[in-house]
Amino acid sequence: MCGIVAYIGDREALPVLINGLKRLEYRGYDSAGVAILNKEVNIYKCKGKVSDLEQFMEGKDKTGKIGIGHTRWATHGEPNDVNAHPHQSYHGKFTIIHNGIIENYARLRTRLEERGVKFQSETDTEVLANLIEYIYEQGKTDAELAVRLALSKVIGAYGLVVLCADEPDKLIAARKGSPLVIGVGNEEYFLASDATPIVEYTKSVIYLNDGDVAIIRKEQLILKTSGQDMSVPKVTELTFDIGEIDKGGYEHFMLKEIFEQPRSIEDTFRGRVRPDDLELHLGGLYQVMPKLVEAKRIIIIGCGTSWHAGLVGEYLFEDLARTSVEVEYASEFRYRNPIINKDDIVIAISQSGETADTLAAIKLAKEQGALVLGICNVVGSSIPRETDAGVYTHAGPEIGVASTKAFTCQVTVLAMMAILVGKKKGLISEERFKNLIHEFTLVPGKIEKILTKADSIKKLAALYKDATNSLYLGRGYLFPVALEGALKLKEISYIHAEGYPAAEMKHGPIALIDDKMPVVVVATKDSSYEKIVSNIQEVKARNGIVIAVVTEGDTVISGMADHVIEIPDAENVYATLLSVVPLQLFSYYIAVMRGCNVDQPRNLAKSVTVE
Ligand code: AGP
Ligand code: GLU
Repeated sequence: MCGIVAYIGDREALPVLINGLKRLEYRGYDSAGVAILNKEVNIYKCKGKVSDLEQFMEGKDKTGKIGIGHTRWATHGEPNDVNAHPHQSYHGKFTIIHNGIIENYARLRTRLEERGVKFQSETDTEVLANLIEYIYEQGKTDAELAVRLALSKVIGAYGLVVLCADEPDKLIAARKGSPLVIGVGNEEYFLASDATPIVEYTKSVIYLNDGDVAIIRKEQLILKTSGQDMSVPKVTELTFDIGEIDKGGYEHFMLKEIFEQPRSIEDTFRGRVRPDDLELHLGGLYQVMPKLVEAKRIIIIGCGTSWHAGLVGEYLFEDLARTSVEVEYASEFRYRNPIINKDDIVIAISQSGETADTLAAIKLAKEQGALVLGICNVVGSSIPRETDAGVYTHAGPEIGVASTKAFTCQVTVLAMMAILVGKKKGLISEERFKNLIHEFTLVPGKIEKILTKADSIKKLAALYKDATNSLYLGRGYLFPVALEGALKLKEISYIHAEGYPAAEMKHGPIALIDDKMPVVVVATKDSSYEKIVSNIQEVKARNGIVIAVVTEGDTVISGMADHVIEIPDAENVYATLLSVVPLQLFSYYIAVMRGCNVDQPRNLAKSVTVE
């Protein structure tokens, strides 16, 4: 998720922290804070930017040679001064910063509150701070053991650094699922979420592994594995300079975010899809689930890519839960005096949570008495505050204007919802349910496999970077993918592209086919496979150029298309998640080759907060 920096040595800690947090700003965040140890722990934190934090600290005691710093991307508890990190335990003994998600934070918090522990914030991180202190106060443990014992009770992902007031000569760091890097200096150590804040001080780094715990004094680093065995730190030398890693080593945010999709889908699974017992929980919908199950109609509203995700949602809910769904462009819905029945359920989809048309459509639906749910990526943004309940996509900050990982996380949430409703309506057997969940857990790995084909997709893109028009075709679950692929191409490369249901081609667009226009066909194995093969033949019969996304091992289409991109086979309901990835890469490489501003395409904004 977001950013961590820590320092212990003979320098003043604050400049290292602030400089480091600024190096991590490329990750996107909503709050920032530091804690500096100098006899006592001074904590300074606020919503907003690192520059706001610097202003906030004006005139305050900022001295100290041990410190921790954090930029937050909220997952639990909206962005505000109280929810910002660092968090301090209830008796002030422990101060922590944390990247990741504590999935079982609610149960842990209840247990601590039952034992009289008071909380200041809404975050999952504060639960961890208080759990460490609670265990520490039971006696017979030192800071390191208290941290270990607390982490043994945690389900979720963390990269964290802990300061203990009783042991002021050390930092304790632990990693599971959220990266941490230690920079090795001369009688000084640096810690960060990646090498960006470290490389200007030292190129000797140690990457922590999942389960590692590091106890760091300025003159000594002790590294232990999860089993408490001493581990010999493996020091590697960084081979790049600061300039190359502002986007985590990627040329553009969009490429970084395309490659983050396996991780962002896994983060969206966290606490919801359980691989071990193949269970599925959507805590945010717990109260409204009965209404979702009884709903006669669901109206999904959104704009752009979020609308495309909504269209996938229609196919998912009607296929798995047999609930009637209408998908509406929010901008149309808000003005066309729509019929909204009291027992309708409206689902608003938005990455930013600030899209003006979607917000207005939500307000209209609420005025007419509908229950409105939200699927949003930004915790605490306007849409989650306007809706009655919802599910956050844990895609992490999406900086590139062209939405990629947010889209696949939106579809992930919609699939979870449709499967759960279908099961509760008795339309999905236990066996099919377990199989769907198992197949779901395989999706991130399959996307990883597709991403290894990036170079071949780049070569294909080079052949078509000068096209002036393009047609994208798909059927069923793959029709929204065709729309999304076309939107990606046109919004970042400025090539006109149109998505169409494949069967609709003969009702007009087939007139466009010639030997210059690439026709991208999303044709993975599904119930309408034979039909889409015929559509490809129709294009070829008119000398059209066919680029087909097919299921691995397809020998039929590979014998007729000009180019094929093979992707792993998958359960039909997950076909969108896999087949969109090659199209994201195809449009990205074409846009780069055309010299376009991929992350900030002309005329576009990341969040359209105006009509
Ligand atoms: C998608 O790549 C575009 N950036 C745009 O269509 C976007 O999806 C649309 O503006 C909706 O934004 P939202 O998801 O933040 O509401
Ligand atoms: N889950 C924690 C919070 O919401 C940490 C989020 C992050 O990684 O920045 O505060």
